[in-house]
Amino acid sequence: MNLSHSKEFLKDDYGRTIKSLRMSITDRCNLNCIYCHNEGSTGASGEMSVGTISNIVHVAAGFGINRLKISGGEPLLRKDLEEILLALPPLKDVSLTTNGVLLRERAGSLKDAGLNRVNISLDSLDEGNYKHITKCKDGIFGKVIEGIHAAVDSGLTPVKLNMVLLKGVNGSEVEDMLSFVKQFHGDVILQLIQLMDFGEVACYHVDVDEVEKELELKAGCVQVRELHHRKKYLIDGAEVEFVKPVDNTEFCANCNRLRVTADGKLRPCLLVNDDLVDVSHASVEEMPELFRLAVSRRVPFYRKRKEM
Ligand code: 5AD
Repeated sequence: MNLSHSKEFLKDDYGRTIKSLRMSITDRCNLNCIYCHNEGSTGASGEMSVGTISNIVHVAAGFGINRLKISGGEPLLRKDLEEILLALPPLKDVSLTTNGVLLRERAGSLKDAGLNRVNISLDSLDEGNYKHITKCKDGIFGKVIEGIHAAVDSGLTPVKLNMVLLKGVNGSEVEDMLSFVKQFHGDVILQLIQLMDFGEVACYHVDVDEVEKELELKAGCVQVRELHHRKKYLIDGAEVEFVKPVDNTEFCANCNRLRVTADGKLRPCLLVNDDLVDVSHASVEEMPELFRLAVSRRVPFYRKRKEM
C-alpha cells in the first residue's frame, strides 16, 4: 500500500506524538465484571470488517504508529482475529487485552498469526471471588488459568496480568498474586491497576499509593519506564507495575495513544465521548485527513493548567 503521508508524524496541540493505536474490535463480552468501564463504551453499532481494520492500521503505520493493542469487549469473541492479525502491516508490537477465557485453544494460532504478547485480566486467584467479580459460571476461572499457561507456553510474553484493585474484594490478594507470578520466572508481570470509577463503583476505591508504598519497601529493585513514568518493582523475583490513570496529569501528558472504537471511530481520549471521528466508511485515501482531525481534538483529560 502506497501511503503518501509516510514520514509525517501525528502530533497534537500539546506536543504529544501518537505512537500507538488501541483498537477495540468488539463491544461484546463473555464476562460482566462489576467494575468494568466497557472501554468507555460508545454504544458501538456493528463491528469493523477485517478490511477496514487493516486499512486503519496501514494508515496509522504510515504515520509512524508502530504499536497496536487490540481490545474489546472481549476480542477473542471474534473468530476472525487470526485473519485480522495476518492482514496487518509489519509493526513493532502487537498485543491483545483479553480475559483469557478462550485463550487456551487459540494462543498458538494467535502467535503464528503475528501476535507478540497478551495482557490478561485476572482480578482474583480465589475462584469464588473471581466468580463474584466477573459474574461468571463455574469452570471459567480454571479456563483462564489454563489460558495464562498457554500464553506463556506459546511465547506470547511477557504476559501481563491486569489486576484492578478493589477495596473489600481483592485488596488482600496482592501477595497471593505475587506468588502466582513468581512461578513463571519473569514471563508473567503483574500490573496493579487503579480503579477508574466516576461515581458508580466508588465503593471499591483503594488508595493505590499506599499499596505502592508497601511494595516499594519490599522491592529489591525499582526502574522507571518512559511511558507514563511508571515504576517497575522487582519483589522476590516477581515483577510488578502500577497503572494509575486517575487524576494523574503525568498519565495524560505522556499519553501517546489514539483509540479506535469497535465500529470504526477514531477516539482521541478514553475519557471523552463526544469527539469521535468516523472512519468506518472512509477510503484509505480519505483516512489520513480524518486521523489529523482526530488528533487535533486531543486534549489531556487531567490537565495541569499552566504546563499544558
Ligand atoms: N478501572 C480500571 N481499569 C478498568 N478496566 C476495565 N474497567 C476498568 C475500570 N473501571 C481495564 C482492566 C481490565 C481491562 C480489560 O480493562 O485493566 O483488565
